Amino acid sequence: MPLRVAVFSTKPYDRAFLQRVNAQHGHELTFFEPRLTQETASLADGFPVLGAFVNDQVNAAVLDRLAPKGLRLVALRSAGFNNVDLAAAQRHGVTVVRVPAYSPHSVAEHTVALMLSLNRKIHRAYNRVREGNFALDGLLGFDFVGKTVGVIGTGKIGEAVTQIMTGFGCRVLAYDPKPNEACIGRGVEYVALDDLLQQSDIVTLHMPLTPQSHHLIGSEALGKMKQGVMLINTSRGALLDTRAMIGGLKSGKIGYLGLDVYEEEADLFFEDHSEDVIRDDVFSRLLTFPNVLITGHQAFFTETALEQIATTTLENISAFERGEECRNAVKQ
Ligand code: NAI
Repeated sequence: MPLRVAVFSTKPYDRAFLQRVNAQHGHELTFFEPRLTQETASLADGFPVLGAFVNDQVNAAVLDRLAPKGLRLVALRSAGFNNVDLAAAQRHGVTVVRVPAYSPHSVAEHTVALMLSLNRKIHRAYNRVREGNFALDGLLGFDFVGKTVGVIGTGKIGEAVTQIMTGFGCRVLAYDPKPNEACIGRGVEYVALDDLLQQSDIVTLHMPLTPQSHHLIGSEALGKMKQGVMLINTSRGALLDTRAMIGGLKSGKIGYLGLDVYEEEADLFFEDHSEDVIRDDVFSRLLTFPNVLITGHQAFFTETALEQIATTTLENISAFERGEECRNAVKQ
């Protein structure tokens, strides 16, 4: 029996990929453009399946509303699941599934794109050349070869980053409570977090956001890093204490900051706000630094990844429909 799926936070590109893959599954997909919040949850009343993305709020209030109206499955189109209240889902007997690996390379390659752009100031050079300014002052970069890169979290994405950075001839340090054999085989050295922070020229974050990792990088961690460190976060915004980062940028402790995620991104990202006044002063301050490069949660955004997200999401829903144990279920 095909299932009715309320798919939130959908853009034309999401619809195109999901519809194409759904031709083989035959579920009844209803696309909603808004983000799922307590205010928009009623759109999903009576749907057995909810399709959600990174900034959809699958919190207790939303689940308390939708479960009694028939919700049985939350199908996340993301790897991260920090936006779901798993305890509330379990209480209501709602299964949560995700897309654990769609294309770790999409995120890893974007991470490295931020590193390279910040180093060689591509974001500034682009504007200069368009204005007929071919001066090189202020564009001085460094060679990556021989530099020390610290990768925090070496799951699928972190591993792909270590692969690229060892290819660049960097020394790669890693911190992860569960070391990855493939990384060790490639010459990555696992060290304590403090050692990684102290020794790395570049620090990049690839672990999930959990209550334990919230604001993992704040003033204290910054204090341990090298002067002028390059810090990259393509994981989840709240891994960084953004106010502390602004302090670090002002003091020069942070030499380069590359972000694809921001702790208060839900009200900003994925939408065109070019006609609006941005009221978030912390975000606005970040934009004033020449050595900060921000992208709006686009690291995942490749054709390969969107195809894989649609494929796994629909396979997850079909497995649930057949009553099978889903290998992509999120366990509490
Ligand atoms: P994964 O589950 O394969 O790897 C996560 C790794 O982090 C694991 O090896 C785990 O042991 C480690 N870890 C957990 N807590 C840690 C801690 N406190 N310190 C150090 N390591 C820790 O996950 P994957 O696929 O590599 O994704 C990583 C994160 O990337 C996701 O949780 C998600 O937040 C983010 N992401 C961002 C995207 C974007 O478009 N910007 C797209 C996809 C994922």
